[in-house]
Amino acid sequence: MKKKFYIETYGCQMNFADTEIVNSILLDDGMTAVQDAESADVILVNTCSIRENAETKVWNRLKEFRTLKKNKEDLTVGVLGCMAERIKDRIIEEEHLVDIVVGPDAYRDIPRLLTEVDDGRKAVNVLLSLEETYADIAPVRTTGNGVTAFVSIMRGCDNMCSFCVVPFTRGRERSRPMESILREVRQLSEEGYKEITLLGQNVNSYKDGENTFTRLMDESSKINPEIRFRFSSPHPKDFPDDLLHLIAERPNLCNYIHIPAQAGSDTMLERMRRPYTREQYFTLINKMKTIIPGVSLSTDIIAGFCGETEEEHEATMSLMKAVEYDLAYMFAYSERERTLAHRKFEDDVPEAIKKRRLTEIINQQMDIQKRRNKEEIGKRHLVLVEGTSKRSEEQVNGRTDTNKMVVFDRKDFQQGDYVEVEITDSTSATLIATPIRKTTITEYYGAAIEA
Ligand code: SAH
Ligand code: SF4
Ligand code: F3S
Repeated sequence: MKKKFYIETYGCQMNFADTEIVNSILLDDGMTAVQDAESADVILVNTCSIRENAETKVWNRLKEFRTLKKNKEDLTVGVLGCMAERIKDRIIEEEHLVDIVVGPDAYRDIPRLLTEVDDGRKAVNVLLSLEETYADIAPVRTTGNGVTAFVSIMRGCDNMCSFCVVPFTRGRERSRPMESILREVRQLSEEGYKEITLLGQNVNSYKDGENTFTRLMDESSKINPEIRFRFSSPHPKDFPDDLLHLIAERPNLCNYIHIPAQAGSDTMLERMRRPYTREQYFTLINKMKTIIPGVSLSTDIIAGFCGETEEEHEATMSLMKAVEYDLAYMFAYSERERTLAHRKFEDDVPEAIKKRRLTEIINQQMDIQKRRNKEEIGKRHLVLVEGTSKRSEEQVNGRTDTNKMVVFDRKDFQQGDYVEVEITDSTSATLIATPIRKTTITEYYGAAIEA
């Protein structure tokens, strides 16, 4: 009988993209996918290590699965992804929690590892690779909305920011061959996808021979002018100018850039091993705003990193105030083993102060978002319909080119339609709109893309 597998995914978009690769590997091996843990023979948890609470969530979930295992002796439970490196020791201590542990570069090995488990052994492969990009594997998108898709363009990270565990969990940076990425984009185009996000931990260092990230964006966006493209994440240290010009010119490259600052003072950026200054960051932001009028920006911020003074915290606040991000992901620092910060610095900002600073950062950001979203009222946007609104069956939701979530009346609109809307109301997180008409990217922006 075919074995049924269920995968639960935590962490960043790259992990979600990896789950689609694992889907493909397991389906090719003759297994079938199910959407709930209870009916599965094999439960896999694709895990994240970025902060302590991300790992805690996974441990709790694994304990729940152990209860399932009590009633179902031949149930296999496995851990994939970024925690694999760390869980390999605990698997020995806590015998019954998991049967199989697979690191991010060893997914091709899962079918073999599962046979080892069938033979009554625990199976582990956490080897990191210098080459693996899964370039030849066509991801199987089992849970998405059929409209938006993620495509991994590179793996690993060599940046070694002092707070970050990713270089240790995902290994060295390597780019996937451009031709295999373009093949996947063409495939998605044929399947009717309307939005593609190209993913990597540091996309502006993408390199395949002579091909740069800008070239990749250029080639990808020419494949189908009715597919919009986003990317995540670039690094402020080497953001290419030619990419900004390309975004400005090309209607289907979204006017939205996620550009993680992490902190606002030179001293803190230096401790974080982020190789740019506050001034260089501002210069980049101003360039973005000048070259792409109306560009929408988002960022990542860490509060309470090692040695953070009140002045450094204020510098982060003032940087965020000056940039006026449309969206920000804000975190309290969480110490991770093996990082430079863990080895060299002390996690010395008391929990209460970390929390207070994070709250200040969040509150200020919410005010900025509220105000910026209010300014949208009366404006027109092109929205890609993604699905039914959480609030009402009668309404649909989707995003503007600038990545803002919009809700409006369903009428006859379908998932995957581009709709011109006029914004009528707003909150800090959502825009409310009146739909004007169904349209296309080419028509709305009134510009054809030369082939
Ligand atoms: N490669 C991406 C970041 C991936 S991790 C980039 O450089 O943009 C996403 C975010 O998690 C980081 O930008 C950072 O803000 C946050 N983060 C990473 N390590 C952290 C830690 N130890 N504690 C708290 N937040 C952390
Ligand atoms: Fe982590 Fe820095 Fe690499 Fe981003 S760029 S994944 S924050 S080490
Ligand atoms: Fe988490 Fe690994 Fe992504 S640590 S954020 S799942 S790269």
